[in-house]
Amino acid sequence: MTSTLHAPLELIDLHPAATDMRQLVIEGMSQSPKQLPAWFLYDAEGSRLFDQICEQPEYTLTSTETALLQSQAPAMAAALGAGTLVEFGAGSARKVSPLLEAMSNPAYVALDISSEHLQAACQRLHQRHPQVPMLGICCDYSQMQQLPLHPLLAQQRRLGFFPGSSLGNFEPQEARALLGQFRRLLGPGGKLLIGIDQPKAVERLEAAYNDAAGISAAFALNLLTRLNRDLGANFQVDQFRYRARWLPAASHIEMALVSNQAQVVQLCDRDWSFDGGEALITETSHKYSPESFLALASEAGWRSEERWSDGAGDLSLHLLKQAD
Ligand SMILES: C[S@@+](CC[C@H](N)C(=O)[O-])C[C@H]1O[C@@H](n2cnc3c(N)ncnc32)[C@H](O)[C@@H]1O
Repeated sequence: MTSTLHAPLELIDLHPAATDMRQLVIEGMSQSPKQLPAWFLYDAEGSRLFDQICEQPEYTLTSTETALLQSQAPAMAAALGAGTLVEFGAGSARKVSPLLEAMSNPAYVALDISSEHLQAACQRLHQRHPQVPMLGICCDYSQMQQLPLHPLLAQQRRLGFFPGSSLGNFEPQEARALLGQFRRLLGPGGKLLIGIDQPKAVERLEAAYNDAAGISAAFALNLLTRLNRDLGANFQVDQFRYRARWLPAASHIEMALVSNQAQVVQLCDRDWSFDGGEALITETSHKYSPESFLALASEAGWRSEERWSDGAGDLSLHLLKQAD
């Protein structure tokens, strides 16, 4: 699709095929405990609910990171230098504007699994920044071996942007592999500006994922509705309840749907048994201190260039450069 505005906006659809989704679901449901890749939470409704989570008073990550980006964008843009911003898991692409405004002649590429939401986000952003050439790519970024051969990705340096502490949704060894993969995708001279949520009081952490309005619960339960619709499952959604808890040994929040009773569910043409009280983990959210994050990043071939933190020490935006 090419818009009539000044610079072009294009979209490329590389969403995983249904057969690949089935394979991932079978693998995840065969684990103990059962756990599916977090991206399954993001169909159009899941993306809409995630935006609502970001507005809940308990979920301060979005407002804190947005304020940090707004106040520090000129310094971040100067440190990033010129290039094409490549945002991994862009969602509604609401955080990138200060950077686009502070950079000179930027181009922008948004990657996200949630295709309709990505399309709407790119169109909205393009109206706000009509001079910025943009490309949306619907894909599972964790499986991308290379970025598409597109002029926006070939003509300038690639500068990764990965806000929202989304790295925390991967187990540490997967996170390390993902950081290494981003390094290869961004290529020589590439940098990565990445938002990392830090450990804090348990009450605050658990409240953030257990908002009083019940949006986090609706977001997780929507996974079952999605599996019923897209993969022919027959989950009874009211037979599961949402649970989010901080597991200190793992330094992560575990979000799960817990079966209210013993039951059998059909999914991907197979029967899956749940015991009463058994959990299906929908996602985890790892929290890293700046030191533990930088140790992980260093194992993936990145070096710290700069770090910007909010005053309370809740989160940091790290600028990473490639190790020599
Ligand atoms: C936690 S939200 C963060 C959204 C936004 N970056 C922010 O900071 O508010 C994660 C986003 O990444 C997308 N996402 C999650 N896993 C993904 C994957 N493996 N590949 C592509 N997109 C993914 C989701 O659709 C969602 O929009």
